[in-house]
Amino acid sequence: MSDPSDLRTLYQELLQRLQRNEREFRRLGRAVWRVQEDERRRIARDLHDGVGQNLTALKLRLHDIQSALEPQQTALREGLAQALALCADTLEDTRELSRLLRPPILDDLGLEAALRWLARSHDGRDGARVELELGALPELDGELQTVLFRTAQEALANAARHAQARRVRIGLHCRGDELHLDVRDDGRGCDPVAALASGGNGLGGMRERLRLYGGRLEIASAPGAGLRLSARLPLDYA
Ligand SMILES: Nc1ncnc2c1ncn2[C@@H]1O[C@H](COP(=O)(O)OP(=O)(O)OP(=O)(O)O)[C@@H](O)[C@H]1O
Ligand SMILES: [Mg+2]
Repeated sequence: MSDPSDLRTLYQELLQRLQRNEREFRRLGRAVWRVQEDERRRIARDLHDGVGQNLTALKLRLHDIQSALEPQQTALREGLAQALALCADTLEDTRELSRLLRPPILDDLGLEAALRWLARSHDGRDGARVELELGALPELDGELQTVLFRTAQEALANAARHAQARRVRIGLHCRGDELHLDVRDDGRGCDPVAALASGGNGLGGMRERLRLYGGRLEIASAPGAGLRLSARLPLDYA
């Protein structure tokens, strides 16, 4: 029979190896995710500065043509008015897509400003009031800010899409060495187990991303009773 102290040593070694592998896995996962966010930032800028600027120029040219038309050229005037409206809609869609991909406010002004912008832009949009409560936060590195922003963004998108809520509340606080992000709505709720198993990328992706940073995601809900999403994230994730 093996000596119990040998077994204990072997067990300790295996455990340490597992922990090392887990840390390495998380480090690699975070690297992949960083590349994805960089790519999103680049595409968002290209969309805004390339396609967006071209559409703005096109709109100005169409305006010039419109003002050069004679009043009696009704058919042409109508056609141009339609083209201008289409151009304005496409410009707005392009800007919206660019903001969704990577809101510049997150890079320029940081998480708190970005969350205020996010809450404002959802407030009243689908009939729900959106409230934001921010506690005092320590300085957070860019990656933590991005994880928290993406989590709040998906939670708000879900509330808008699935909840039919009247009220959505976002809270972000630092408790000890953990960040607590909670998004609560008073909408129709769902079965949380089914929601996580539904194959949607939103909640599953959010849970995976939080895990890469040593965090966790909990969902409390029942049909008809709203939904509460709680994300917990350690300040020190390395
Ligand atoms: N706030 C909410 N209120 C009610 N049901 C919700 C809410 N959030 C999520 N759900 C349910 O959980 C499911 C899974 O959500 P998830 O975000 O993973 O996927 P999705 O929103 O359907 O698609 P996507 O991949 O575009 O995010 C939803 O389809 C919905 O049924
Ligand atoms: Mg979703």
